[in-house]
Amino acid sequence: MIVLFDNVVEDLKTYVRKNLGKESLEAKELFAKFSTDIIASFAFGVDANSFKSESAEFRSMERIVAPAGQLFAAGFEPVSFTMAFTLYELCLQPDISNKVQQEIKKAILNHRKTTYEALKDMKYLEIILYESLRKYPTVPFIDRICIEDYKLPNSNFMIEKDTLVYIPVFGLHYDSKYFPNPKKFDSKRFSDENKNRFHEYAFIPFGKGPRSCIGARFGFLTNKFGLAHILSEIVKSTKTPVPMEYGTKGFLISSKRRLPIGFKEL
Ligand code: HEM
Repeated sequence: MIVLFDNVVEDLKTYVRKNLGKESLEAKELFAKFSTDIIASFAFGVDANSFKSESAEFRSMERIVAPAGQLFAAGFEPVSFTMAFTLYELCLQPDISNKVQQEIKKAILNHRKTTYEALKDMKYLEIILYESLRKYPTVPFIDRICIEDYKLPNSNFMIEKDTLVYIPVFGLHYDSKYFPNPKKFDSKRFSDENKNRFHEYAFIPFGKGPRSCIGARFGFLTNKFGLAHILSEIVKSTKTPVPMEYGTKGFLISSKRRLPIGFKEL
């Protein structure tokens, strides 16, 4: 599968290189092109060419093949937002960024290419991605309909059948009971020794249960693959908005002041 995406990632790198002279690129738009091409290639087997043409042909395909279009719609924004927010955070954390880059370079050197096996060796990048999904859960809440009356344990509170329930993913991820100092991007939070310390339902960037994200593994791998490529050859310099101010329009999390990131070659 990874081989399928080699062309897409080359297009991403070529596009960034072509624009190195610019003060910054908008990370969300950049990775929207990337995730459009990846998911179009994966779900439809077509080359959407987002980096080559602004009015990508894939958009009209999407209307024709509606169910697959829904799959695309559900996946492309969470993937691109996660990449953009992770890179944003790495701009603010040069030490973490350097460590990730060292790990990526070593793995690529060992495996000669960014293969699936090379990605498996990038354990630190994985930890960083989990922490990024905690701090920036692109889907900030999920919803369910209660199918039978349910009394919350240790309380008199009853959720009646048919009640629409919103589960605050963002709130759980920032609850200091589970994640001490939650605003801190902590590169050790998901290390092997720490990752089982919090409740399994406290960290739910892909939802939970039978209706959880069907693209979780694929989305995670896509993020890892794209970031490994970008970080192995191109470094970002900071033109990033601090502190992050979230947009209030739309139901996915977004930055109010966009996410400009300056790139330079390693
Ligand atoms: C980092 C990437 C992604 C994140 C953070 C993410 C997150 C989520 C979340 C939170 C849900 C709701 C789950 C629930 O209600 O319990 C969801 C559902 C869904 N996601 Fe993802 N997603 C990602 C990538 C993808 C990709 C790549 C695809 C498809 C290729 C995809 C397809 C879907 C679909 C079809 C659903 C609806 C599942 C259902 O209703 O049964 N997602 N996703």
